[in-house]
Amino acid sequence: MTTTHHYDILIIGSGTAGLTLALHMANDVKVAVISKGQLEEGASLYAQGGISVVLDKTDSIQSHIDDTLRAGAGLCNEKSVRFTVEHARENIEWLINQGVTFTRDGITSETYHLTQEGGHSHRRIIHSADATGREVETTLLDKAKAHPNIEMLPYHIGIDLISSSKQLGEKENRILGCYVLDIQKDEAKTLLAPITVLATGGAGKVYLYTSNPDVSTGDGIAMGWRAGCRIANMEFIQFHPTCLFHPQAKSFLISEALRGEGAKLVLANGEQFMERFHPQAELAPRDVVARAIDHEMKRTGHDCVYLDISHKPASFIKEHFPTIYQRCLEFGIDITKQPIPVVPAAHYTCGGIMTDLNGRTDVPGLYAIGETAHTGLHGANRMASNSLLECLVFAKSAAEDIKKQLPLVTSAIVPQWDASQVHPAKEAVAISHNWDELRRCMWNYVGIVRKTDRLLRAKQRLQVLQAEIRDFYTKHHISADLLELRNLADVAELIIESALRRKESRGLHYILDYPETDNTHSATETIIAPKNQDDEAQL
Ligand code: FAD
Ligand code: SIN
Repeated sequence: MTTTHHYDILIIGSGTAGLTLALHMANDVKVAVISKGQLEEGASLYAQGGISVVLDKTDSIQSHIDDTLRAGAGLCNEKSVRFTVEHARENIEWLINQGVTFTRDGITSETYHLTQEGGHSHRRIIHSADATGREVETTLLDKAKAHPNIEMLPYHIGIDLISSSKQLGEKENRILGCYVLDIQKDEAKTLLAPITVLATGGAGKVYLYTSNPDVSTGDGIAMGWRAGCRIANMEFIQFHPTCLFHPQAKSFLISEALRGEGAKLVLANGEQFMERFHPQAELAPRDVVARAIDHEMKRTGHDCVYLDISHKPASFIKEHFPTIYQRCLEFGIDITKQPIPVVPAAHYTCGGIMTDLNGRTDVPGLYAIGETAHTGLHGANRMASNSLLECLVFAKSAAEDIKKQLPLVTSAIVPQWDASQVHPAKEAVAISHNWDELRRCMWNYVGIVRKTDRLLRAKQRLQVLQAEIRDFYTKHHISADLLELRNLADVAELIIESALRRKESRGLHYILDYPETDNTHSATETIIAPKNQDDEAQL
């Protein structure tokens, strides 16, 4: 038994991107926001450093643009960079109007404390101590929950987009909504809307070690891909240099803002090493720092390196980094007195569903915003704190674009989710084993430093896993774990294919067979289009 529900806009994902769009639209139309876990769960909740915005008098829009382009290693879309940077201030003001509180600098009652992170040539990161994401996410969520036109549906996981060509056999493809599994009731639902928005975040969970929360399984990228969208630049996976290394500390990040405030990276013997790798040392772009750490760990045979901020006054550390201080203390590490053991981990998906400056994808009726989208802002390497900014800017531009299409109408009658041919899975081990195998394979063969033969090995393994997953999926009742595994496998395949296509090293993609950047290569060569949009999308 399935049910059908109608909305004006269906937003899949309740992170910064999804909630921002919902709030911009809700005075005009009826919005549904679905989220596969608790509503606040997502990368947004864990963002630490802050949001980049030009506020300091000595800073400039052009400087923010130049830094972003430099970090992006020649592959940013300049229009997208300018658009984002120029709209930063108004979007931060919007956040403040929603009730978000940022840390003040204590100089005047008007001014905010700005921190610095890798790649930025100025202090331009506005923040709420070291828990910026929590402040933004919980404030927006409270607003959204209180709005009469927004229906929030936690524990609802999108299965697949409903497409007019696939489900209705029409020639013109249009997205009509999404088939969704209500996880708590174990019931499939048909959610229909003239506009569907993917705001599902990134895909860090495709790697064994990640700073991302469990929900970051690339579902939106995989759903968009299967529905006929082009996917761009998936080889550019950002590894954050400093995640806490501790057996019980699942994916806890040590913000780059510590390095912005003078923390040093050291080896077990206390020796600093970053100056050997880049003139900006600890504040070099993230790809450089992550590779340097990876190199030093392999060279010394040690499991981690250390980040040391203990030379700063304890009161400064506790005031600026209360969350990190407290969390490390829980693991017996007093960061005011001792260095923090750190390792790199998968952090951010620079590639994603191709969109224009309004968040429109290739398929009418479908938008993509936030980390799931590829707007061209980040190029080959995202600069720190440009991501929450992208969520805000593109959610607003998408809202403005959608408002131009009001009133929204839909009259589609679509088939219900059909579970008549499948049966309950007798055991879950096939799913959990494949989850683990896939993530290990990606970490070992498609990680920070790549090699063509390792990528080909990963591709072969992936093909076997894909075949098993497809077989399991067509025969068994769906579950959240199975849906995520299917999506992870699609995303892994896209990453491997993109990495194989880019025969140069650039930004986050470092491949030993082609160690140099080659300027005959461009961003467009790893835009991947589904072969035949009428078939199950396959590479
Ligand atoms: P998310 O916030 O990840 O939200 C995704 C939503 O989609 C969730 O609600 C999830 O449940 C839902 N979802 C996913 N799949 C489905 C599905 N199939 N069905 C239904 N719902 C689904 N960026 C910065 O700019 N500054 C920072 O300081 C910063 N710090 C970071 C620290 C950490 C630890 C991490 C992990 C990231 C950080 N980033 C930072 C990156 C930034 O937080 C993310 O890129 C950004 O929050 C993504 O927002 P989003 O709305 O696109 O996705
Ligand atoms: C951090 O605080 O180091 C993360 C910032 C980011 O990913 O933008």
